[in-house]
Amino acid sequence: MSTAKALAEAGHNVTVVSMMKPKVMHKDIHLIVIPVTEEQQRSIEEQMAIMAGRKNSVLDTMSRFLNSLDVMIDSQADVLTDPRFLRIYETKFDLMILGYFLNDFQLAVAAKLKVPVILDGLMPPNFITDAFAGNPSELSYVPHMATIATQPMGFLKRTENLALHLFSKYMSTILESKLNHNYEKIYGGDKNLPSLKELRKNITLVFTGSHLISEGPIRPLVPAIIETGGIQVKDKPDPLPEDIGQFLNKSTQGAVFLSLGSNIKSSTVKPEIVQIIFKVLSGLKENVIWKWEDLDNTPGNVTNILYKTWLPQDDILAHPNTKLFITHAGKGGITESQYHGVPMVALPVFADQPGNAAQMERSGFGLALDLLTITEDSFRQALKEVLENDKYSETARKFSTLYRDRPLTAKQTVVYWTEYVLRHRGAPHLQSPAVHMSFIELNNLDVYTVIASIVISFLLLARLVGKFLWSKLFAKANTSAAKKNQ
Ligand SMILES: *[C@@H]1O[C@H](CO)[C@@H](O)[C@H](O)[C@H]1NC(C)=O
Ligand SMILES: *[C@@H]1O[C@H](CO)[C@@H](O)[C@H](O)[C@H]1NC(C)=O
Repeated sequence: MSTAKALAEAGHNVTVVSMMKPKVMHKDIHLIVIPVTEEQQRSIEEQMAIMAGRKNSVLDTMSRFLNSLDVMIDSQADVLTDPRFLRIYETKFDLMILGYFLNDFQLAVAAKLKVPVILDGLMPPNFITDAFAGNPSELSYVPHMATIATQPMGFLKRTENLALHLFSKYMSTILESKLNHNYEKIYGGDKNLPSLKELRKNITLVFTGSHLISEGPIRPLVPAIIETGGIQVKDKPDPLPEDIGQFLNKSTQGAVFLSLGSNIKSSTVKPEIVQIIFKVLSGLKENVIWKWEDLDNTPGNVTNILYKTWLPQDDILAHPNTKLFITHAGKGGITESQYHGVPMVALPVFADQPGNAAQMERSGFGLALDLLTITEDSFRQALKEVLENDKYSETARKFSTLYRDRPLTAKQTVVYWTEYVLRHRGAPHLQSPAVHMSFIELNNLDVYTVIASIVISFLLLARLVGKFLWSKLFAKANTSAAKKNQ
């Protein structure tokens, strides 16, 4: 939605089709919301509840999408035949941007509209976006998305990396048949459409949610991969609501911002844990802004804590007095905090949060504790350490400087490259030739085979000749030796 908003702000007429009511909007965006059916919703929620109760690796999650969670793929196919969606074919469009989530079959829409298509990969470059753009995955020094590694990788990490890659490729082939099935079901009868495999070769650009030179890993990117990481962060903060603004302005000792996200309601965290958090925070010399849903039942009233039900997170993190962010370690919050150079104490609970928190701690932006097992001591120690030891804020500030140092902001990047594709009618010259090569050609297997055949033939021939000469010589020697003996 931030990508759509950037384009609308630049004066483009943007229509967005979504299955959820978006949080980010713009008054000029035409929105078509086609929600999942109630039955699909129930099934998704059941699965999410199962996933919330345990740690899930990326591979776990992937295999889930192919089995119990395949409703998330199939519902995206249902959209394509929904009457609310079919109305878009009455309008003339110039370009399609496909938000990628295992929905390749939706590429058919661009082909039907006869427009170029940009794929928004949303995540950092990975084996999926590599395949779309014909980008090398460089398994020996580019860590797979499912592992945390520092570069360069040692022997074991490289072995793990290769195994993860092969496994992902295997999963992709299973996914492929599911995607093809959906594609054939909807468009199989349409003689004007090529195969899904061919459609994939017509992607002009791939946006990725990354900025590798500040975040890492360092890796090659073909020209058709455009990094738009941080697009969701505002370039300039909006003015704060008056009470929050005043509270932060008078926080001369600094302010701490606590938000455990919208999935975990603060009031559903165990009361003992809330009391631990309250005791420690009320004893700080810094002021505290605490996101809390039930203002009639706060953990306790003291002058240094301000409770609010709703908070403009990005704008609070941008305030110069904000010294620390206590977060549940959602990806969005961590990125915003890093962008504004604010160190963190993470209290993750489930899903991707523990992984995000571990990565954040490893990169030196702060410390991670487990929300369910914190004690007064461990929590106070962690806050003291991150507030008083300058190394965390230093690391965060340094990252923030690198992250912002770009020729174009993420928004400008989206607008520039989208208009570039429009100006150059799909800009096919940008595409890597690798997209059109088979596995054998791409890996030069045919060339190696021919060279190997020539070398082997030559060796065999040499051996034959050698044998022949040897036997001649030997025979001569034998006869002369025989003569001497006579
Ligand atoms: C923008 O697109 C919408 C929907 O396709 C259309 O109804 C409207 O006329 C367009 N506006 C302009 C200014 O082109
Ligand atoms: C491929 O994209 C170009 C524009 O970039 C478009 O004109 C053409 O129709 C597309 N072909 C298919 C099969 O989608």
